[in-house]
Amino acid sequence: MKPFNRRRFLATTLRAMTLAPFLGVRPALAEDTFRPLRTVAVEHGLSFGFAIDPAQLDTNPIYRDFVARQAGIVVPENALKWAQVHPAPDRYTFAPVDRIVAFAQANHQRMRGHTLCWHRALPDWVTHTVTPANAKEVLTQHIAAVVGRYRGKIASWDVVNEAIQLDDGQAGGLRDAFWHRMLGPGYIDLAYDAAHRADPDASLCYNDYGLESDSPAGTRKRAAVLALLRTMKQRGVPVHALGVQSHLRAADPHSFGPGLATFLRQVHDLGLSVYITELDVDDSHVTGDLHQRDAIVAGTYKRYLDLVLGTGTVSTVLTWGVWDTVHRTGATPSMGPSAQRALVFAPQGVIKPASWVVEHSLAWRAS
Ligand code: XIL
Repeated sequence: MKPFNRRRFLATTLRAMTLAPFLGVRPALAEDTFRPLRTVAVEHGLSFGFAIDPAQLDTNPIYRDFVARQAGIVVPENALKWAQVHPAPDRYTFAPVDRIVAFAQANHQRMRGHTLCWHRALPDWVTHTVTPANAKEVLTQHIAAVVGRYRGKIASWDVVNEAIQLDDGQAGGLRDAFWHRMLGPGYIDLAYDAAHRADPDASLCYNDYGLESDSPAGTRKRAAVLALLRTMKQRGVPVHALGVQSHLRAADPHSFGPGLATFLRQVHDLGLSVYITELDVDDSHVTGDLHQRDAIVAGTYKRYLDLVLGTGTVSTVLTWGVWDTVHRTGATPSMGPSAQRALVFAPQGVIKPASWVVEHSLAWRAS
């Protein structure tokens, strides 16, 4: 590996920061020297990519070209959630996902699936017609149909998403989620077994948020997730990876801490891979002009990636979206109408300070 060249890094970063306000009109200035993140990642044994929107792929050629150039792995942000992909008992909406699969194959990208079993994004027909008596059949059939269709094409799945919620007071810290109410704690093993049957080669992931912080709540949640994963492994459940969502808050010292590195090593010691699945940096509370906000967001990306990549346990990094959009929803829904600068690229794929620091973190991670 090349030695760390702090001078070169500082020069490019400062140049990018100085240029940032002008990049909207002169993106080519930075594009000339910026290397695609997918290439940089692969050179260092990592995979980098985005959560993507099939409607944008269909309609926006700039988006399409940019995703092809920068991402080595893609995941549909919403298109595989139950309400979207299975809106009626006898109807699946596979077409948008099929188009992402075709796009990913054409561009030699890997693909992740998100998500098979979650307390959110359930269509009304599920919440109205599923009972403890038929829940097992409905859940396993959904998983068999969706995973089966993409067998050999979707390399890893978020099988169960966000199952831990300590405030709910359930055994094991499990969330009082719909599937838990229907089937009890056994729904988790059931979901992984069904996914494994449908594609024995897929990497099956448990995905959650709130694991990043060293706060008392974050520490307790990590312990509950670790215990869940450990007991699943002991029972022989096919779980292969942990997804750490990584929705961060800019310049917040409590957003993440060094305890996360210890946690990732413990997860890795269980024989699991670690994916950073939904990385973004909420800057809605940050005051200052665009230039200052971009510098703060970049700093947060840098500290976070250096921490998690420094453990040597992380194989994959995906950001939750391709570039900044004015109205971001979901990960940080209370942002209001102000433009957000949460992602690694500015609108239309324009390079910004976070782009440079992510390139640097991917390239210079400790190995
Ligand atoms: C969010 C999407 O980004 C939004 O577009 C959607 O309206 C709601 O869901 N954790 C997850 C993701 O696992 O699926 C969520 O995505 C963000 C939080």
